[in-house]
Amino acid sequence: EQARQIQQTLAEFRLSKTQLLEVKKRMRVEIERGLKKDSHKEATVKMLPTFVRSTPDGTENGDFLALDLGGTNFRVLLVKIRSGKRRSVEMHNKIYAIPIEVMQGTGEELFDHIVHCISDFLDYMGMKSARLPLGFTFSFPCLQTSLDAGILVTWTKGFKATDCEGEDVVELLREAIKRKEEFELDVVAIVNDTVGTMMTCAYEEPTCEVGLIAGTGSNACYMEEMKNIEIVEGNEGRMCVNMEWGAFGDNGCLDDIRTKYDQAVDENSLNEGKQRYEKMCSGMYLGEIVRQILIDLTKRGFLFRGQISETLKTRGIFETKFLSQIESDRLALLQVRSILQQLGLDSTCDDSIIVKEVCGTVSRRAAQICGAGMAAVVDKIRENRGLDHLDITVGVDGTLYKLHPHFCRIFQQTVKELAPKCDVNFLLSEDGSGKGAALITAVGCRQRELDA
Ligand code: BG6
Ligand code: GLC
Repeated sequence: EQARQIQQTLAEFRLSKTQLLEVKKRMRVEIERGLKKDSHKEATVKMLPTFVRSTPDGTENGDFLALDLGGTNFRVLLVKIRSGKRRSVEMHNKIYAIPIEVMQGTGEELFDHIVHCISDFLDYMGMKSARLPLGFTFSFPCLQTSLDAGILVTWTKGFKATDCEGEDVVELLREAIKRKEEFELDVVAIVNDTVGTMMTCAYEEPTCEVGLIAGTGSNACYMEEMKNIEIVEGNEGRMCVNMEWGAFGDNGCLDDIRTKYDQAVDENSLNEGKQRYEKMCSGMYLGEIVRQILIDLTKRGFLFRGQISETLKTRGIFETKFLSQIESDRLALLQVRSILQQLGLDSTCDDSIIVKEVCGTVSRRAAQICGAGMAAVVDKIRENRGLDHLDITVGVDGTLYKLHPHFCRIFQQTVKELAPKCDVNFLLSEDGSGKGAALITAVGCRQRELDA
């Protein structure tokens, strides 16, 4: 009886192919809304223009600074790109911490901290006197009017610094550099991490025209036809669009598949009501869904002898790396218990079996709905090009995709099933978004010289 009730609870997370096709279809509807002039303002999937008009062609050249803010790590990088027959990219980088007080303090504190880290990096590299061009990977939704202007629409994930939403973050960075009075930089481009990832991968593989992040957050970008991007002037060629698909469902269109656990995760978050799709399929939230289910099962007496410990009440205990360990097939149940023990949860053998099943069910749904979103994207590209069959490469990054033992496989399988007319090759980014941001900066610098 207990087993039946647990299965009943988990059944809500097990989506049929029909349901997944429905998710794909709805994503397509939201994509169209975001692209059209008369509906983009209300659209939840924002389809933000990036002013990146082509993938790299190997002629990019020069030394660039890059920032990479918004994922697990904040990095400052020096990227040296050489063009020509023996084209190459050399990178140096340093990781810096962003304390939670800074992520959620004032905007001025956040940008002063960023500039402080740049200063440290330039000292370390001995490059303070060069006025380097800089590409800023900023992994949040930005309304861009050019390559080097981006108004922060809203913070997502764990950030909530004041006085930044509605502001041009490039200006915020420039002002902080001025306040410091230590060095000069030329901020050339603001880049979403999906776009940086696509460009990084496209440098090696020219068929890469889509970028995907399955990490702390979830998002994708792709090369869209200019004529379809109604809010940008011009009809020739293509432009990369940052979809901001994490906000899919914010208008209620996924309510039939959201569970009460998803709602609880949303209510407990920094941005209630926002990023509902992201909250079902990205690393920052999967552990929280698991935790909500475990709390419920414990309350009903099916787990942990009915005792809800302080640990179980703690937000964010199940990080992606723990979920990944728990779901690893090489791990014996005894080891699952020892992981739970490390987290401060005393479990029996039966408990550990249930916990593992809960984790598996939640991450499977995540991979499937993420796959449904990607199926909508590649089919849209195929239709754009009037093809019966599309061959395309997707550049991918993110801790969930890289660390989780099953996410990547289930995701790929779902794309294949839901978009059978597309042959999709997934290319893992090894170098992060900073390299792509530098490539974009190189093109931006060249364009400026041509315009001058
Ligand atoms: C990195 C990128 O490689 O992947 C980051 O350089 C990006 O900019 C990140 O945000 C996504 O992964 P995660 O899991 O750290 O959020
Ligand atoms: C969040 C951000 C988005 C980013 C994604 C992955 O969804 O809003 O800009 O691409 O996380 O980091």
